[in-house]
Parts: sequence; structure tokens; C-alpha cells
Amino acid sequence: MTLQEKIADLRTSALEKLPKIADEKTLNDFRVSVLGKKGELTDILKGMKDLSNEERPKLGALANEFRDEITSLLESKKSEIEATIIAKKLENETLDVTLPGKKVAKGNRHILTQTTEEIEDIFLGMGYQIVDGYEVETDYYNFERMNLPKDHPARDMQDTFYITSDILLRTHTSPVQARTMDAHDFTKGPLKMISPGRVYRRDTDDATHSHQFHQIEGLVIDENIAMSDLKGTLDTLVKKMFGAERKIRLRPSYFPFTEPSVEADISCFKCGGKGCNVCKMTGWIEVLGAGMVHPNVLEMAGIDSTKYSGFAFGLGQERIAMLRYGINDIRGFYLGDARMSEQFK
Ligand code: DAH
Repeated sequence: MTLQEKIADLRTSALEKLPKIADEKTLNDFRVSVLGKKGELTDILKGMKDLSNEERPKLGALANEFRDEITSLLESKKSEIEATIIAKKLENETLDVTLPGKKVAKGNRHILTQTTEEIEDIFLGMGYQIVDGYEVETDYYNFERMNLPKDHPARDMQDTFYITSDILLRTHTSPVQARTMDAHDFTKGPLKMISPGRVYRRDTDDATHSHQFHQIEGLVIDENIAMSDLKGTLDTLVKKMFGAERKIRLRPSYFPFTEPSVEADISCFKCGGKGCNVCKMTGWIEVLGAGMVHPNVLEMAGIDSTKYSGFAFGLGQERIAMLRYGINDIRGFYLGDARMSEQFK
């Protein structure tokens, strides 16, 4: 076979194979095998050294023609393959707007947050400021400044988590009272604040106890603040939260930081006072602790207790929410089960 015939054969087989190629890798392998340095054309051209001077350029021209033809065919094949890839990609990425959408799960605020914000709104409406406190507190603010010196027996009811012997997780929001009194400038007007936040106790968790729960502290200090102001304020609070027909009842109690101290009950919002399972047949539900700020607490803040007086109160959001919505296990608030929150959308 002459070299010309060999090239013609190679051309025939190349023209037959090329149209069947459908991917870039095969196309490249084909190019290397036909036109590459160790390819078939190179192999054929090795025979050129035996040709005459006349024939050699002819064969060279033929080889170049062949190379050009195949190269241009390779190029169009390459574009063809690329176009197919793009077309396929476009097809796969087509957006069918008629398909049903994926529903994005929508959350809602935790019922304790909702309860807190509801109470905040009521007090903002009465001109109170909302103050943040520290969850990590000092013994000094959590106890001493609340009239609970080191050896005070009432400390037993509020055992907590200690970081050092002087730094602890606050057992109530009451230390915010002392901190705000320290910061307040009474020449600018009365002090009226509430302070919501987390508190901690060394309790074993069960249906009604949690080592961590929430409180809202309230404090008003001015000249001539009397018990009637406290009663009127609490009355407004419970009527806004539990309904206009609710009545309030104050029972004597004891807190070291108030004198006198009271426990506030509301007439039962379920039975209206007749007696039911919510009020344990008494017609009344205990909702918070309160009292007139103890003169010692005022004096420790440098406030003249002969000129100024005040009232304070503390309530627990968990207790309020449990009563209101019939939640019977406090742990439900913290376990993170979405079904708990979904009930309060
Ligand atoms: N700090 C009290 C507690 O955690 C609640 C309380 C009672 C706060 C009476 C007050 C108050 O401000 O006047 O048990």
C-alpha cells in the first residue's frame, strides 16, 4: 500500500468514527490517536524518508490537507458536544413554576417571651422603663442589698449556683432594684421600672420546679408612694392580663426587702371565684409577691427613707403562663418541642 493509500484509509476510518463521538474525553482520545505525536498519521509519515524528492512534497501537502480537514471537523464536533452539555444543563435547571412549593417552616415567639412582652407593654403604657439586669450577680446585690445579710435564714429558700463564694447566678430579679436605685437621679423625677429576666435556684427539676425560670421585677420610688399605689398598679395589671372582671386580694406575707409584704391573689379567671380545679376550690389564685420597699433597702442605696418611699413586686412568667393556659409541667417550656410553641401562634 502506498502512503497515499494509507492516508486515504486513515481518512475513511476517521470520517466514519468521528460522527459517533458524543463526549469530550473520547473526542480528545481520538484526536491524539489520529493526529498526535505518536498517532497514526505520524506513523504513516515515517515512511516519507523512502520517497523520492518529487513525491515527498506531494505527500506532505496531502498530509497537511488531511490534518486541516480533521482539525476543523474536531473543532465543530467539540462545539457540538459543548452545546449539547449546555442544552442538557438548561433542561435540568428548568424552573417549573406550577410545581407545588416547598413550605418554609415558620416559627413563632416562645410563650414565655409572649407573656413577658405582654407585661412589658402594660407597664410601658404606665410610664415605666424596662431595665436589664445581670444573670451572673454578686452576693452583695442578690442578697445583702436586698436586706438578706450572710446569716439570714431566708437565704435557705434561695440556694443557688455559686461561681465563687461572692459571685453567683441570681436567685431573683430583685438585685436589679438595687442596681437601678444606685443609678437613678431622683432630681430628674421618680423611679419607675420593670426588669424581666432569667433567674436560677438550686432546685431539682420536676413538674413545678425548675433550676432556671423567669421573673419580672417591678419597682416604683418617689415621695409619698403608698400601699394604695401598689394596689392600684397590681389591679391594673391583672385586669389587663386576666380580664376586667378580675378582683385582687392582698394577703400579709414576708419578704426581707419589703415591709409590709404581701402576696397578691386574683379572683379565679376560670370559675370567676366560685371554686374549681384551677383555684383549688378557693376562688383565688396567687400570682405574685409584693410590698413596700424596706427602708434598709432604700438607705443602702443612699436614698433618704424619711423622704422617699416605694413599692416593689415580683412575678413569675412560668406561673402566669401555666395558670392561664393550663400547662401542668414547667419542663414543657424548656424541652424545645416545637409542638409546645405551635400552640401559641
Ligand atoms: N424576689 C422574690 C422572690 O423571688 C419576689 C418578690 C417578692 C419580689 C416581693 C419583690 C417583692 O419585688 O416586693 O421570691
